[in-house]
Amino acid sequence: MQALPGFRDFLPDACAARNYIFARWREVARRYCFMEWDGPLLEPTDLYKKKSGAEIIDQLFNFTDKGEREVAMRPELTPTFARVIAAHEREFKKPLKWFSIGQFFRYEKQQRGRLREHFQLNCDIVGEAALAADIELLALCIDLLRAFGFTEKDFVVRISDREFWTDFLREKDVPPDRWDDVLQVIDKFGRESREKTIEKLGELADPVLKVLSEGGKSEKLDRLVDGLRGRGLGEFVTIDVRIVRGLAYYTGIVFEVFDRAGSLRAVAGGGRYDNLIQQLSDGAVSMPALGFAMGDVVLGELVNETPHARDRMQQAIATERKIDIYIVIAKEERRADALAQIQQLRDLSYRVDYPLTPMKVARQFQAAEDAGASLALLYGDEWPKLKIKNLATREERLIAHEELLAHLQAQSSVSS
Ligand code: HAM
Repeated sequence: MQALPGFRDFLPDACAARNYIFARWREVARRYCFMEWDGPLLEPTDLYKKKSGAEIIDQLFNFTDKGEREVAMRPELTPTFARVIAAHEREFKKPLKWFSIGQFFRYEKQQRGRLREHFQLNCDIVGEAALAADIELLALCIDLLRAFGFTEKDFVVRISDREFWTDFLREKDVPPDRWDDVLQVIDKFGRESREKTIEKLGELADPVLKVLSEGGKSEKLDRLVDGLRGRGLGEFVTIDVRIVRGLAYYTGIVFEVFDRAGSLRAVAGGGRYDNLIQQLSDGAVSMPALGFAMGDVVLGELVNETPHARDRMQQAIATERKIDIYIVIAKEERRADALAQIQQLRDLSYRVDYPLTPMKVARQFQAAEDAGASLALLYGDEWPKLKIKNLATREERLIAHEELLAHLQAQSSVSS
């Protein structure tokens, strides 16, 4: 029996890598004073039908529940976020800055960087229309990746503005009900054949392709990049009007993060969605909002392909896994004394392991080495003294067992 296609088993190494990613995400989101929250894994299918756009609807894991409700496993967090904000915004001061780490489900064709489940970090800001919020959000996105050891040589944030395109379409007298379709074609530019793009754009093909190949000018985007430059983050970003994002709700600045080599799918993406909360609350609550999500799958690939980031992760995982003390039970008559001591040590938060059943002393020392223990404590002929061995320096000494805790505390105060 295997896991379903596109679903992962997280064996200990994979789980350690996942925890490493989550820990960096939490650490940096907290540095920017975002508060953690979460929503349900299952939502009414309508929530996504109304708000996410055609591409995601095709990818829903949806079914009818036992109460005849049409439900879907969440493919993304933004519609849930907008629903929750519309219901609770009065309880929180603005601008509200929230983050969330959770699992999402999309029935996509399984390929490199795309699975049927993945984890995302979502970071969103509500209640601030000024460009300062977009700059802050982008700085957070960049700093999240820097926390993995990535530099401007490893990734780039491509920034664009949907307003640039809606202004363009207005100028060309394209009716607003066609804008979404045109934006979808631009989003797929480069992924679909040129012929198909031209066919779908019709009379707009020439002017749109001209902008896509020559780039566009936008005073707002220049100010945004200046803001990041002022923070020393200018090297991480580039203006690229080809980015419009596939999701339907974006209204302003949008961005996607890619590896510099351009060999992977997007690591993260997001932007402004100033109308979504209003739409979801039928006009009751109107608030500007912006955010992005970073996925664990592509990020994990980028970490593994980037030697300095991979070494950093492996070192962190090795340190995290190390145990403090391995108890070597050399004489089975001492097992009860050892277990009483182990209980006490664990109560004091030491990470302690020992053989559950009788085992040769040499194998126990090997187990201590394998676990990366700092100390081995030997319960044997020396009782009521213990042999204490520092596994790094190989130094050994005998101490009375009742002095063990005082000895360990003295040692840790010397080392810290
Ligand atoms: P998204 O671009 O659909 O945005 O997804 C964000 C990130 O999630 C992607 O860049 C990618 O790393 C990861 N991701 C998405 N689908 C998959 C998949 N099938 N397998 C692996 N990784 C995947 C959103 O979801 C927006 N709701 C983000 C947002 C938050 N906008 C505003 N706030």
